[in-house]
Amino acid sequence: MARANAATSHRLCVAPMMEWTDRHCRYIHRLLAPNARLYTEMVTTGALIHGPRDRLLAHTGAEHPVALQLGGCDPQALATCARFGAEAGFDEINLNLGCPSDRVQAGRIGACLMAEPQLVADCLRAMVAAADVPVTIKCRLGIDRDDNFEFLARLVAAAADAGVRTVVVHARKAILKGMTPAQNRSIPPLDYERVHRLKGAFPDLAIVLNGGLDSVAAVRPHLEALDGVMIGRAAYQNPWLLAALDASLFGTTPPSDRRLIVVALVPYIDAHVANGGRLHDVTRHVHGLFNGCPGARAFRRHLAEHGHRAGAGSEVLLAAAGRVMPNLATCSSA
Ligand SMILES: Cc1cc2nc3c(=O)[nH]c(=O)nc-3n(C[C@H](O)[C@H](O)[C@H](O)COP(=O)(O)O)c2cc1C
Repeated sequence: MARANAATSHRLCVAPMMEWTDRHCRYIHRLLAPNARLYTEMVTTGALIHGPRDRLLAHTGAEHPVALQLGGCDPQALATCARFGAEAGFDEINLNLGCPSDRVQAGRIGACLMAEPQLVADCLRAMVAAADVPVTIKCRLGIDRDDNFEFLARLVAAAADAGVRTVVVHARKAILKGMTPAQNRSIPPLDYERVHRLKGAFPDLAIVLNGGLDSVAAVRPHLEALDGVMIGRAAYQNPWLLAALDASLFGTTPPSDRRLIVVALVPYIDAHVANGGRLHDVTRHVHGLFNGCPGARAFRRHLAEHGHRAGAGSEVLLAAAGRVMPNLATCSSA
């Protein structure tokens, strides 16, 4: 199936999510959405420079287009890591300007950097000079009391001046004190209008909307004005949504049966287990695959009960899929 300008398009993106969008998850998402742009979990510059670099950058050819998300605030370290990412084969390097957790704030990483547009510009300029792939940002609408259009526009102008052409906006502000990251993903209200206004002010930039998008119907109207959408929790919890979105946005034909995804995973799992990996590393990302289908609960239960067993392999996943009713026409659609 031909990919619609997938190398450059941000029309459909799957959000970076720590602990979730690891390489196994991305492999599964690619099976479901041939045209989506996938993002890694955030990797800090410290981890990449001093830690297990090969493991942190590991990905397979099947994942492209795939972006590496970096967390950091030191221009030189970010430049080094952007170069590592480009050399490892990533198609894009994304700078995290949206994470509100205390831990990253302590390292001056994530959303708190939105208050320092000059430092952000220095970081981005160094990254652009070091990497021969596009450098992008993912930010919030604002932080704390800096919650107005001018604050966002100032940051985006600084990023554009540094060579950024694509901006992903999680359409709610971040509250930096007194809220957990999970609360920060649901309590500050969404304001899609401000992201549309951003596109009006920066028509030459690709503006990608993120936050709260959970169906084809929710996504469609935004794409009339914006360049793309990024889906996070809904894609992870209900992976079939990705097949429905890819079909709707790119005209691809989704697999006729969700169990075909399971079948396609068998050789991948067999190779992973043969290399000493655990079945659960892969199957933890497919628990929601049959949501809305008769038998979905039995599928999840079978994986939960048998997926952790020592020596468990792809036969466990196949048996779990056998619990799903054959008549998938009865599944509710995304
Ligand atoms: C478990 C989890 C981990 C996340 N980790 C990251 C991350 O590493 N980098 C990042 O920019 N955003 C991260 N996010 C935020 C998402 O990328 C996204 O902006 C947010 O969930 C809103 O989109 P959604 O409503 O479609 O889920 C994370 C979200 C979740 C649920």
